[in-house]
Amino acid sequence: CGIIGIIGKAEVAPLLMEGLRRLEYRGYDSAGIATLVDGRIERRRAEGKLQNLYDRVTQNPIEGTTGIGHIRWATHGAPIERNAHPIATDRVAIVHNGIIENFAEIKAEMLAQGREFTSDTDTEAVAVLLTSYLEAGASPTEAVAKTLPRLHGIFAMTILFAGYPELLICARRGAPAAIGYGNGKGEMYMGSDALALAMLTQRITYLEEGDWAVLSPTGAQLFDADNRPVERPIKQTALSGAMIGKGNHRHFMHKEIYEQPAVIGDTLSTFVNPATRTVALQDLPFDLAEVSRVTIVACGTSFHSALVAKYWFEKLARISVEVDIASEFRYRAAELPEGGLALFISQSGETADTLAALRYAKSQKQHVAVLVNQPESSMAREADVMLQTLCGPEIGVASTKAFTAQLAVLACFAIAVARARGKIDTQREAELATALAEVPSRIAEVLADEEAIEALGKSLIDARDVLYLGRGTSYPLALEGALKLKELSYIHAEGYAAGEMKHGPIALIDDQMPVIVVAPHDELFEKTASNVQEVLARGGKVIMMSDAAGIAAFPGKTLATIRLPDCDPFVAPILYSIPLQLLAYHTAVHKGTDVDQPRNLAKSVTVE
Ligand code: G6P
Repeated sequence: CGIIGIIGKAEVAPLLMEGLRRLEYRGYDSAGIATLVDGRIERRRAEGKLQNLYDRVTQNPIEGTTGIGHIRWATHGAPIERNAHPIATDRVAIVHNGIIENFAEIKAEMLAQGREFTSDTDTEAVAVLLTSYLEAGASPTEAVAKTLPRLHGIFAMTILFAGYPELLICARRGAPAAIGYGNGKGEMYMGSDALALAMLTQRITYLEEGDWAVLSPTGAQLFDADNRPVERPIKQTALSGAMIGKGNHRHFMHKEIYEQPAVIGDTLSTFVNPATRTVALQDLPFDLAEVSRVTIVACGTSFHSALVAKYWFEKLARISVEVDIASEFRYRAAELPEGGLALFISQSGETADTLAALRYAKSQKQHVAVLVNQPESSMAREADVMLQTLCGPEIGVASTKAFTAQLAVLACFAIAVARARGKIDTQREAELATALAEVPSRIAEVLADEEAIEALGKSLIDARDVLYLGRGTSYPLALEGALKLKELSYIHAEGYAAGEMKHGPIALIDDQMPVIVVAPHDELFEKTASNVQEVLARGGKVIMMSDAAGIAAFPGKTLATIRLPDCDPFVAPILYSIPLQLLAYHTAVHKGTDVDQPRNLAKSVTVE
């Protein structure tokens, strides 16, 4: 979900709509705005994508200079208009990200007082509770101070009060929130991330965990979780409104695929020294050589980069690595011996399950490191060490550049651990540093082959199922390729370890089944090639991704091959991600699905 709040001088509806447009990647089940007109709360809400709200506001404009807006990824209550935010009573309107876990209890208490509810949302319990305090004579600030301690759960919220045209109150617990300072002429802003505010201001204060803020035209007063006044620094963000355009590309995803040579180059420049051909991390508050074992936790695409990292760390640094999905890890009471390293990978740095897993690892006395793209995110703030991908904003819901940049950092991390543990010699490190430094230009070569991949994408649109196979680091890539295809094109796809195929999925293979094989010519190539023969023997249609040597060595007849440049097998996962992304992208474009905002998904999932 995404939130924006504006205290302004001019008509606020167009600004709210523009802010929501920039937040749309965070959810698009429904959207809404609320303003004050003559002190009364006015709302426009619409189910579905933001365009529906645009149409509604165009038909039925909404006045007012102070307002709030929301874009929703539904949790409680179906994504219908009645449940769209802002949720309002006649006294308050609220936009909320997160979940109020004890809403049922508060709702029961309010119903017992004879108060009415009109939506199925958890948020309405907060609106009605606030209203009860206001009606009992509390000021807006007093009502919020009384309400917040009663809430359990996760939230970033902003509240608009009837009769107070120069006031917004926002609060943060577990979900990010930032306030933005205007040009001193009476404007103040609130956003669930800096992107929403990028077109309005560059001066931003990130609320700390538990903070809440009272915004007026002249500034903001901040309080901590115990309602004590606090000061927080104002930061200058580097984000500008212009960074959030599509350029000449048809979709954000396409633009982001093409940004990979540049952002991987930028990211690597922090770690790789091409002159000395060495790799180094920043100074760490613990000794890498002392780390006894590594636990890596993540969700979605970031989980796949964690799986690749496992192979790299184990093989290169000879250290034991456990990888887990955050939503599983956090509830399985994992035994973590003291002194271990726990690494959390997240583009957004906000994914609720990953954040909760991080807190668990901290409680188990692990060295906590995060790999994030958002340096101001909750995970970055709570970790002992932050490693950063330098990708800029990733707007396409399906992750592309963040994934490959994560891989680039993880490769460097694995080399650094290997060196600290004395498992790599200078010559191999130099080879790997060079291989990494060459990745951006190799990616550019792969991008030059887009046309051939587009044609293949077209050939997949009628497939019912697609199987992706790989071994070693190509196995997580098979998982990622399948995830990309299913999230973008809604074609069922499965990634499998090539050697495991004969234990089940082989039963699916017939002459209708495309099988995509990720097979760089590495030490496992021959094993994978045998599995491909098993597919061919059953009539499967094989699309093979390999390099010149692999294609030459493969004896069978494939439907198509995608030829990748030669590279050190160590960096192959970064390179082979590109055709997988392009294939999923073009399949989706030919199918006519919504590439940047696939149905039911959201960019950043701040609920369990
Ligand atoms: C959502 C997104 C995925 C992403 C995952 C994890 O499901 O749609 O693209 O991989 O969250 O996000 P994170 O920000 O933690 O990497």
